[in-house]
Amino acid sequence: MSSSSPFPQNFTWGAATASYQIEGAAHEEGRGLSVWDTMCRQEGRIARGQSGDVACDHYHCYREDVALMKQIGLKAYRLSLSWPRIIPDGNGEVNAKGLAFYDRLIDELLAAGIEPWVTLFHWDFPHALYCQGGWLNRQSVDWFARYTEVVVKKLSDRVRHWMVFNEPQCFIGLGHKIGMHAPGDKLALADVLRAAHHVLLAQGRAVQTIREHAQLAPVIGCALASPISIPASDSPADIEAARQHMMGFGDEWTWNTTWWADPVSFGHYPEDGLRKYHKDAPQIQPGDMETIRQPLDFFGVNIYSGIVIRAGANGHENVKMPEGWPVTAMNWEVQPKSLYWGPRFLFERYKLPMVITENGMALTDWRSVDGQVRDPLRIDFLERYLTALGQAIRDGVDIRGYFLWSLMDNFEWAEGYRPRFGIIHVDYPTGTRTMKDSARWYSEVIAQNGANLRVPFECVGVF
Ligand code: FCB
Repeated sequence: MSSSSPFPQNFTWGAATASYQIEGAAHEEGRGLSVWDTMCRQEGRIARGQSGDVACDHYHCYREDVALMKQIGLKAYRLSLSWPRIIPDGNGEVNAKGLAFYDRLIDELLAAGIEPWVTLFHWDFPHALYCQGGWLNRQSVDWFARYTEVVVKKLSDRVRHWMVFNEPQCFIGLGHKIGMHAPGDKLALADVLRAAHHVLLAQGRAVQTIREHAQLAPVIGCALASPISIPASDSPADIEAARQHMMGFGDEWTWNTTWWADPVSFGHYPEDGLRKYHKDAPQIQPGDMETIRQPLDFFGVNIYSGIVIRAGANGHENVKMPEGWPVTAMNWEVQPKSLYWGPRFLFERYKLPMVITENGMALTDWRSVDGQVRDPLRIDFLERYLTALGQAIRDGVDIRGYFLWSLMDNFEWAEGYRPRFGIIHVDYPTGTRTMKDSARWYSEVIAQNGANLRVPFECVGVF
């Protein structure tokens, strides 16, 4: 370790993507439909009527993409598997060709010296199973366990790192409560919480399944979307207010951490949540909480932003940012200290090694007249956030890895292709990839293990 870097020697520097957002080849080699395919076909659901039908065509261009990863110097790549590509109707025949794609991809990564980190589910739920009730059906737990077994038997001779669900808060909350994401439902809270309970059970069963069938000793984690609360000052009162806020229940239940993480770590739903949901809380059958409580090896969390909280009359109050505060092309506030306080509060509560499974910034970048993609704002964003992460490590938080979202521009769900998160630019009509300046910058960060991050921590949130 360089003396000026807080990052440990074996720190995992990576980048992330997800199947539906990059693969394309939506109707090739036997892939079944997912709820995202059907959502994208409904008028008015997705910005400009776009879909992931072709996306980055990674299905065909994966070799080129892995070569770019190698050029950047990534140590790890977080990818997700498309369940309906592997089992077209979700629970029937296995599609050998679909599985073979991931087989080739993983071989390609390993040959390039890049460790694959596999997410089992990043939102592309099989449409056929949705027609059987989807996550509302308790059988979803068995469907998911079987899919997990198929995957683990095939890939665990080479894959060691697994994440079960990406952001259950989103695919359950945005997908089943608000209707903004697939499958686009607006269910009653009791139904949403029942679906969420099945997701937690499915996670427990998947963890058991991985441990039972893995050929290489598995390292298993989650990839939660945790709403981050940032103390307005270093005063103990503000820090406590932010901690309470972050681990509590706001009005918008989907952006909650403890409902998802407490059952897994402690074997019960949080008391305040149960009080709040009261009659809408799920029915818990004997043995459920034991199934859900499967110890994880790391706590993975996706962090993009946060809200600033100070102590106030009712315990805590939001601090509004001044007019003109920096926002990204998603309109998300730039809050670098979320990458300090988020891991710190989560580590304190769950006491697991932390991995940042996603962090990054959307812009609307384009190729300049000289053919280069200049993205100084993204570099500035990343430098601030990574500095905050480094400070958390200095202050004793056990952080093992960081995955930049995203390796390349891709299909940003309901927002379509306009927001660009990649450090590699994708020209969608031709599929041409161009490294952005940020890719070269990140390369240097990896090569120097973070020793080239020069912003003082005090300045990361000053604009
Ligand atoms: C996260 C998702 C990921 C991507 C980023 C921007 O919520 O996990 O797929 O869309 O946001």
